[in-house]
Amino acid sequence: MLRSANCGSLRSENTDDQVTLAGWIGRRRDHGGIIFLDLRDRSGIVQIVFNPETASEATRIAEELRPEWVVQVKGTVSLRPDGSENPVIATGNIEVMASEVTVMNRSLTPPFYIEEDSEADESLRLRYRYLDLRRPPMLRNLSLRHEVVKYIRNFLNDRNFLEVETPILIKSTPEGARDFLVPSRMQPGSFYALPQSPQQMKQLLMVSGVERYYQIARCFRDEDLRADRQLEFTQLDLEMSFVEEEDILNLTEDLYTGMIESVTPDKALRKPFPRITHKEAMDRYASDKPDLRFGLEMTDISELATETEFRVFLSTIEGGGQIKGFVVPGQAQFVTGQVKELEETAKAAGAGGLVHIRYRGIKPVVQLTGEEILESAGLRMPPEWHQRLCDKMGAGPGDMILLMAGHQPRLNHWLSSMRTHIGTLLELTDPNELAFAFVTSFPLFDWNDDAKRWDSSHHPFTSPADGQEFDLDGEDLGAITSKAYDLVCNGSELASGSIRIHNRQLQEKIFGILGHSKEEIESQFGQILEAFEYGAPPHGGIAPGIDRLVAILCDSPSIRDVIAFPKTQSGSDLLFDAPSRIDQKQLEELSLESTYEGE
Ligand code: AMO
Repeated sequence: MLRSANCGSLRSENTDDQVTLAGWIGRRRDHGGIIFLDLRDRSGIVQIVFNPETASEATRIAEELRPEWVVQVKGTVSLRPDGSENPVIATGNIEVMASEVTVMNRSLTPPFYIEEDSEADESLRLRYRYLDLRRPPMLRNLSLRHEVVKYIRNFLNDRNFLEVETPILIKSTPEGARDFLVPSRMQPGSFYALPQSPQQMKQLLMVSGVERYYQIARCFRDEDLRADRQLEFTQLDLEMSFVEEEDILNLTEDLYTGMIESVTPDKALRKPFPRITHKEAMDRYASDKPDLRFGLEMTDISELATETEFRVFLSTIEGGGQIKGFVVPGQAQFVTGQVKELEETAKAAGAGGLVHIRYRGIKPVVQLTGEEILESAGLRMPPEWHQRLCDKMGAGPGDMILLMAGHQPRLNHWLSSMRTHIGTLLELTDPNELAFAFVTSFPLFDWNDDAKRWDSSHHPFTSPADGQEFDLDGEDLGAITSKAYDLVCNGSELASGSIRIHNRQLQEKIFGILGHSKEEIESQFGQILEAFEYGAPPHGGIAPGIDRLVAILCDSPSIRDVIAFPKTQSGSDLLFDAPSRIDQKQLEELSLESTYEGE
């Protein structure tokens, strides 16, 4: 070994130890001939002192050292003199008095400082990702990710799961995104698809009798990228036979609570995880992934709204829409400018507008008088109506009410973004708090208004709720619920799963409703339908996204911060310069022709 200790592990107990360290040069300070250098390795930073009186040759070399050079240092651990301790770093009570230093490698001047907080532009950090990953917070993220995956493996191994790898070159498995395709050289004109998830394979493993499967699986989806989406990402993919929904939810809850308490014990984890139905989530929070760290619950006031002469309300209700909103407790003091900003935010989210009512005065005055009511222009309702509105919504003096008019599903979308906006504005979103919930009983289908067809709300392999398979022949497909569930946390969807169909006829029927022809069903899904005829057991599963979970545990706003080599928003890898053009010879080998005329 080229070293006897790690930089970040030295403490006062090590005083007088002779150590050999190796790492990268960080900050440097010169004080009257004495040189102080930070030496950094994965474990942390330690201060090295070069004193020309006791180590003249080492000090001479130290004068030449520059940031990010790789060195080996031999020296003695010593307590820092009184008053010069640095409480910010773990090794802040000690320093290493160098006796020898060897340069192992030099470095060009890095394009940005390798520090705790980097001001550098993200594209520069991604272009030099290997330098960015040297920064302590990035290494901490990678190591937390490692701890999470290690915990998952141990937890599932202890419960008799088998880790099984599934292929990357497969046939399309629909998860609602576009496929990445790989041309086959040996079979010209044919393509593999990269798995959007191992969904069909894990179900086939249940037919195989594996009973309990998991995999830390890479998934590929050609979709528009956002802070919580990458083209390739990682799932804990799991599937179980002979189970019901509650078995999977309980296992997932045990896994998450155990993991978080072990890996990030300082997080304030709310237990047990509440279970709310999809309908309840939409009614109460206008979202299927509500942030439960705060209330701001919705009330439908359409009935009261019909008593007004407010045109927007009346025409919306006439057209089959709703008037819905929430109370912002204690915020009646919002001034006109602030309310205007809220209106702008609502419009930016696509809403036609935002109605506000501010009830000046102090609780517990119960009776509202006209002067205390500040309402949106055009509303002008008597105190008696406001009193009934307050009773319905749980509001009173001192509070502000926000209301929106519109048709579903857009109305809920606008309300939910306003709720999130207010939550952030009023600092109700403590990043240290983790408010998980299972959202259950999703609809089986969603109406796709653009394509004028039904889509699976989760995916086509999801089982309808008990007894509801009979409604598949009926008119109201939108009312059928399913055995699909999500795990959500702090407003983000962290996992999805369902109890599956394991019967060929039912599965075929669902494909038919989704608009697949008999030929398409056979060519795309023939393998799984056939397998269902050979004794498929009842089964179900879930797939937690690892990147999103780790990002929340690291308080990172983007999953890019917890992925070693992520892609940019436009799908580029700036380090490898991918995707890139390929040469004519490769195209020919793959029997592909380029129609690209960009050059
Ligand atoms: P679903 O498509 O909902 O379900 O994905 C499950 C979880 O994977 C994560 N996720 C993503 N993370 C980063 N970037 C993306 N582009 C991305 N897409 C999804 C999310 C999500 O909750 N086969 C089913 C699961 C099942 O039914 O068992 C599936 O993949 O955290």
